[in-house]
Amino acid sequence: MSERVLITGITGFVGSHLVDYLLTLDDVEIFGMRRWRSRTEHIDHLTDSVNIVECDLRDQISVSQVLIDTRPTKIFHLAAQSFVPTSWTAPEESLHTNIIGTLHLLEGIRQAGIDPWIQVAGSSEEYGLVHPDEVPITETNPLRPLSPYAVSKVGTDLLAYQFHQSYGLKVVRTRAFNHTGPRRGDVFVCSDFAKQIVQAEKGNREPVIHVGNLEAKRDFTDVRDIVKAYWLSLLHGEAGEVYNIASGTTLTIRKVLDMLIALSDIEIATEEDPARMRPSDVEILLGDSSKFREATGWKQEIPFEQTLRDILDYWRERL
Ligand code: GDD
Repeated sequence: MSERVLITGITGFVGSHLVDYLLTLDDVEIFGMRRWRSRTEHIDHLTDSVNIVECDLRDQISVSQVLIDTRPTKIFHLAAQSFVPTSWTAPEESLHTNIIGTLHLLEGIRQAGIDPWIQVAGSSEEYGLVHPDEVPITETNPLRPLSPYAVSKVGTDLLAYQFHQSYGLKVVRTRAFNHTGPRRGDVFVCSDFAKQIVQAEKGNREPVIHVGNLEAKRDFTDVRDIVKAYWLSLLHGEAGEVYNIASGTTLTIRKVLDMLIALSDIEIATEEDPARMRPSDVEILLGDSSKFREATGWKQEIPFEQTLRDILDYWRERL
């Protein structure tokens, strides 16, 4: 049976990789919501293969109309304000876009009288403050969010749960741990450091990399493995359930920086930038994704060092 797939956030980092993956499958028609001023650089080469529809998630009328027009069988809800520091400088905007945007989507599905499978992207940030004896983190861990962004993702996640319980919507909630890869925005740590290294390689800046909290630990997976996981979540996930998607290993940000530096030929120094420190940072994320792996058969294929190489090459081509 052919699938009509709708992606919110199609112009974003994860959305563009999801499209790349969906285009390798048979019988999938792709629709993507685009806010009128969003940059489309990551999907411009795909305009013959995807149907872009103008829509603002913050506007119920706009969202409902797209759902009525496209009648999707599967929805990937990726659109969000996704950068943690921005959620401190613009908390209302982050909460509104992420929570009310999700409400509009779920309410729009109900009102359109359609019955799609819906993947709702939560985040490992929802766990926030994690005690040493709580790792690796399972889905039942308490949620102790440490930023407005994390609160917004708890809201997103729980709204999806509630719509399943109240109205039977076929929602699958995913909590992906950190993911990265080529095209990652330059504010996120791996891309940020890689871009600075490449600028130094090209002589466009001093070989001094500005850094924030290097002691934080994160669980990284390549975005190209994550989008496959999202697809599998809708094939094999159970409606209403929540699943961690993680590598099951953790690295300090210092280690990530060292790995990137080792992949460059130049001598590089580092300098701490107080502006890069957060009011509260999540100290450790290390996920247990056995529930998801057992349900779907998902496994990672791309080693993290390859991911870092690809990010560096992405910036070497672009800058
Ligand atoms: N961005 C950035 N820049 N982060 C730095 C820097 C720096 O110069 N130096 C150290 N860090 C640390 C941050 O303090 C944080 O502990 C870690 O690197 C990762 O930061 P980000 O890449 O900004 O990601 P994040 O962990 O806050 O959030 C990402 O992962 C979540 C899933 O766990 C985002 O992609 C979220 O949208 C996602 O939900």
